[in-house]
Amino acid sequence: MAITIPIRAAGAGNPSRVVTPPGATLTSLPPLSVYIHVPWCVRKCPYCDFNSHAAPTEIPERAYLDALRADLEQALPSIWGRQVISVFFGGGTPSLLSAAAMDEILAMLRAYLNLWPDAEITMEANPGTAEAERFRDYAASGVNRLSLGIQSFDDAQLKKLGRIHDANQARAAIDMAQRAVSRVNLDLMFALPGQDMAACMQDVEQALSYGTEHLSMYHLTLEPNTVFAKYPPELPDDDTSAAMQDAVEARLAAAGLQRYEVSAYAKPGARSRHNLNYWEFGDYLGLGPGAHGKLSFHDRIVREARLRNPDTWMASAKARDGSHIAESRQVGPDELPFEFMLNALRLKEGVSAASFEERTGLSLAAMSRPLQAASAKGLLDADPTRLRATALGWRFLNDLQEMFL
Ligand SMILES: C[S@@+](CC[C@H](N)C(=O)[O-])C[C@H]1O[C@@H](n2cnc3c(N)ncnc32)[C@H](O)[C@@H]1O
Ligand code: SF4
Repeated sequence: MAITIPIRAAGAGNPSRVVTPPGATLTSLPPLSVYIHVPWCVRKCPYCDFNSHAAPTEIPERAYLDALRADLEQALPSIWGRQVISVFFGGGTPSLLSAAAMDEILAMLRAYLNLWPDAEITMEANPGTAEAERFRDYAASGVNRLSLGIQSFDDAQLKKLGRIHDANQARAAIDMAQRAVSRVNLDLMFALPGQDMAACMQDVEQALSYGTEHLSMYHLTLEPNTVFAKYPPELPDDDTSAAMQDAVEARLAAAGLQRYEVSAYAKPGARSRHNLNYWEFGDYLGLGPGAHGKLSFHDRIVREARLRNPDTWMASAKARDGSHIAESRQVGPDELPFEFMLNALRLKEGVSAASFEERTGLSLAAMSRPLQAASAKGLLDADPTRLRATALGWRFLNDLQEMFL
């Protein structure tokens, strides 16, 4: 998902200051992905700050599908003729959609978009039998990757996290997902309330026992405006959670899953193409309430955001007057180095230096000062052909990213 980025003016005396060139032109457009937001959940989890809303007894599926069609139709002129390499249904809980609804959406995408024959089509799904039984139908409609929000295999922990599923339902969902599609990601969180190292590693072992090829390991964060922020649970201290992070990385490496991004681990060939496209500063069209997008044109790069409230988004998308777009703004050349590096440095292998010019239209010289300053501090790899954090830079990633502001 995209992020809102506060832009801070660099002081004149700052030696790592980004030099702003007069303008930028792109000679080729980057790969294009599509993100579709499904905003409803059975219940709101106390740690979650995503744009997700406890569902009314039944989700307004017909109204959602009509609004999504209207949203897509209005977006088509911005992406006309471009190939789409991946689609991601995120939430919320996309698996609350019926199989017929997913089929309708995928048919619509195929009709309107130039979808690559082997496009990665991921759907986030929550354990819970009603949804899990639909996995096979989703796959028949074209979903080829499922991302399951497991969080933990410990029943007591799942209760503390306010999850609606237990560990048995999580196991059943993994089993059904693996039968339905060949690519399954498991989301786990660590540094959980009252969790110790042994419990954290037990979750990792359980995940590995399914032979999973992709694992996302998120450090639980207390997000503002959540129940956990208001009533903070007892969490492991920083040293313990850092030790957990190291132990998880070592154990997963031994099992053949390489940490390729801050929170993502995969076996060779199993990396998420959709998420890689975000981190490599590709384009994405965001549809649905609160969805963010980034679209490149030959002379500009534009960021957009849809209205967050599901009802308001549905009504205004259907009005077909552009009022469902909360924000659409051109990203200035002075913002591009930070936006690019914010993403690229999350990747363990970084990105090629040439891709900076390709994706931003700026010369690498635009950020020569912060590049030199970061190398001098040992935070950035000395290889001039790559933009990659050193081990030290990765440990202090926020500081390194901020040098490009
Ligand atoms: C878009 S969310 C939700 C996916 C799905 N609805 C679910 O909950 O299973 C994707 C993942 O982000 C992670 N996540 C959500 N809130 C988090 C937080 N406060 N700290 C760390 N990870 C979080 C969870 O692992 C979750 O599965
Ligand atoms: S189910 Fe997922 S998206 Fe919904 S509230 Fe919980 S963590 Fe957030």
